[in-house]
Amino acid sequence: MTISQIDMPRFLSRLHALSEIGRDGQGRLTRLAASDADRAGRETVAAWMHEAGLEVLIDRVGNLIGLWQPDGVTGAPIMMGSHIDTVIDAGAYDGCVGVLAGIAVVEALKAAGYRPGRPLAVAAFTNEEGVRYAPDMMGSLVYADGLAPEAALATVGTDGTVLGEELARIGQAGPHEPGFLRPHAYVELHVEQGPVLEREGVAIGAVADLQGISWQEVTIDGTANHAGTTPMALRRDAGVAAAHLITWLRDRARAGNGRSVATVGRLRFEPDAINIIPGRAILTVDLRDPDAERLVALETDFAVQLDEIRRTEDVTVTIRRLARFEPVLFDAAIVRTIEAAAAARHLTVRRMTSGAGHDAQMMARICPSAMIFVPSIGGISHNPREQTHARDLEAGVNILLDVASHLSNV
Ligand code: GLV
Ligand code: MN
Ligand code: MN
Repeated sequence: MTISQIDMPRFLSRLHALSEIGRDGQGRLTRLAASDADRAGRETVAAWMHEAGLEVLIDRVGNLIGLWQPDGVTGAPIMMGSHIDTVIDAGAYDGCVGVLAGIAVVEALKAAGYRPGRPLAVAAFTNEEGVRYAPDMMGSLVYADGLAPEAALATVGTDGTVLGEELARIGQAGPHEPGFLRPHAYVELHVEQGPVLEREGVAIGAVADLQGISWQEVTIDGTANHAGTTPMALRRDAGVAAAHLITWLRDRARAGNGRSVATVGRLRFEPDAINIIPGRAILTVDLRDPDAERLVALETDFAVQLDEIRRTEDVTVTIRRLARFEPVLFDAAIVRTIEAAAAARHLTVRRMTSGAGHDAQMMARICPSAMIFVPSIGGISHNPREQTHARDLEAGVNILLDVASHLSNV
């Protein structure tokens, strides 16, 4: 049933305003978890939650939750949401769309005089991106009881800061125990961040599952030495070893089932000078596959390759695990509800797998969960060129409205 329409001009102007928070001198948007920019973003979102008449609640790991509980309405809430932390040099849509859509849905329901059968909540989870503090999806992982709050708060970031200290510093370490509101169901609207919907001309993705994620940091130690005097045969070059690993990962992922992906997103040499053979290379490895066994096979083959590199390049290799999440199946009934809502609005819809990690994958541990995707122009994300047409955003927010209101009454 179509209850009402979203106020799209307000939604879009908030999306734009949020995207202006955390820009540097070059105009690059970076709002890393628990940074000053994150503080400013959170305070703005909290103000919009207040404006929408939501009670704003923050838990110990900084998860920001807006609750709409009309008088006499009880029970576990329907939770919507996502995150507002970003990657480095980010786009405006990743995460922010889901949080602002949740607020817009509540406003539309209120404007229509709608009385939900249970409360509605909108969450902005802490540190979804995992860029500053690993693992990713940290706030929702803690919320869903997958990581102790103390362990999350003690996490040391890439810049040497401690998450708990940073959250306290920016005034976002709240009093509530993570998980304090146990949802009846969780629905997250997100931009696809990939090319499928646009390529197929489909408006709505009903996300049925999400691939497994494996993150490791690899440290390779060789010997720093003079670039001019050291014969090629006598080198222990950590840089060459890293280069071998990078190309091996590309080839291994390509040789898989067509769905495995492998990425080295960070690489640092020490001492990092033009005339010194790298004595150390530190790189991150991001492996993903929707199939649990194939992901294990990829990890196992990578471990064998590390042994090979130790031998052939005469280096030592140490591994630090940063994240490991199994593939997730979303709730079939909510996926069908998304499809039905799209059909009712005469929107094209297809089932799909999420390639990105999302807070919904953690919330699926504690309640029926699913996701709605809208197309990303050119399939670009984690990039300032990330973009989604306003008409596609409108379709997605309206489907969230339909699904959340439906779920609040069943
Ligand atoms: C989260 O953005 C991810 O890395 O998938
Ligand atoms: Mn995201
Ligand atoms: Mn992201």
